[in-house]
Amino acid sequence: MARSALGHFPRNPGSSVAAHQIFSLVKEELQEVEREFARQSASSVQTISDIGRYLQEGGGKRIRPTLLLLCAKMCGEVDEAAIKLAAVVEFIHTATLVHDDIIDGADTRRGRSSVNHKWGNPTTVLVGDWLYMQSFFVALSQRNFHVLDILIDLTQRMVEGELIQLTFNGNHRITEQDLLDIAKRKTAYLFSGCARIGGTLGKVSPAQEEALARYGLNVGLAFQLVDDILDFSSSKKVLGKPVLSDLKEGKITLPLIYAMDVCSSEETRKIKTVLEEKEFKSVSREDILSIIEKYDTLRKARSRATRFARDAEETLELFSQSTFREALHAIPQFILDRDR
Ligand code: IPE
Ligand code: IPE
Ligand code: MG
Ligand code: MG
Repeated sequence: MARSALGHFPRNPGSSVAAHQIFSLVKEELQEVEREFARQSASSVQTISDIGRYLQEGGGKRIRPTLLLLCAKMCGEVDEAAIKLAAVVEFIHTATLVHDDIIDGADTRRGRSSVNHKWGNPTTVLVGDWLYMQSFFVALSQRNFHVLDILIDLTQRMVEGELIQLTFNGNHRITEQDLLDIAKRKTAYLFSGCARIGGTLGKVSPAQEEALARYGLNVGLAFQLVDDILDFSSSKKVLGKPVLSDLKEGKITLPLIYAMDVCSSEETRKIKTVLEEKEFKSVSREDILSIIEKYDTLRKARSRATRFARDAEETLELFSQSTFREALHAIPQFILDRDR
C-alpha cells in the first residue's frame, strides 16, 4: 500500500480542522483512487507495469486527488467519475515528476531511486509519455469535454512551465515575476484544475467554478514556493528527494532572488559561481546558506507563500459552510507548515 497523504502534514493548531481530519474525510475514496491507479498502470508491457507499481509504491502525499475529491464533496457527491478523474490527476502529476527528474538529473524521489536513476533516461522518457497518454485515455472515457479542456490546458501549461524554466537555466537575472509565472504553469495550474474539476462534477455556478480555479491556483503557488524553501531548509531524509539542489540544477528560486536584491556583489558572485559550476566546488553549501540566513530570505519567501495561502482561503467564501469547505480552508495552512 502506498505511503500516502495528508497524514504526513503537521497539526495546525490555528485551525479547527487537523491534517488527519482533512485526510480522513476522503480516506475511503483515496483507497479507491489507489485501486484505480493500479488498474490504470497495468500494461501488457512488463516494463510499464513494473515501473507503474514502483511509482505507486513510492507513495507521495496524494494532495492533488485529495483536493479534487474534497471539492467534489463540497459541491456534490463523489461518484465513479470523481474517483477516475482523481486517479487521472495523480497520473498526470506522476508523469510530470518522472520527466522532471530526467530534466533535473535527480537520483532520488520519495526516498528511493528515481525512475531515471534505476531504469535510465530512454526508458523513463517513454514511460512518462505512456503515463500521459493513459491519463488522457481514461479521462476521455468520461466523455466530458469540459473536463478534457481543463486537463489538456493544464498539461500544456505544465510543459510550458518546464520549458520556460529551462530557458532561464543558469541565469541569475530571473525576476520574481518570471519565477511566479513558471511556478504558476509548472505547478499551480494542475492544482487549479483539480479544484475546478472536483467542483464541476457537482453543481457549481460559473462564478463558483472561477473561484475554485483561483483557489487551486493560489494553493499551487504557495505549494511551489514552499517546495523551493524546503530545498534550503529541509533534509533529504525528511523530504525524500535531494536538498540544496535547485541552485546546482541551474535554478534560482525566491529565497535567492530576494537575497540578490540586497546582498553584496561578492555574495552575488558566489551565487553565480554555483549556478555556473553546477556543483558546490569553489563555493560551499555553507557559503550559500549563510547568505540566505544573513538576509533572512526564507522568511521573506514564506511571507510571499503565506499571501497566496490567504488569497486561497478567501476564495472559498462563495461556498456555503460544510466540513468539506472547512477542510479546504485548512489546506493552505497545512501546505505552509508541511515539512515534506
Ligand atoms: C512535487 O510534488 C513537485 C512539485 C510540484 C513541487 P509533491 O510534493 O506533491 O510530490 P509527491 O507526490 O508528494 O511526491
Ligand atoms: C516542480 O519543480 C516540478 C513539476 C511541476 C513537475 P521541482 O523541480 O522543484 O520539483 P521537485 O523539487 O523536483 O519535486
Ligand atoms: Mg525537480
Ligand atoms: Mg523542488
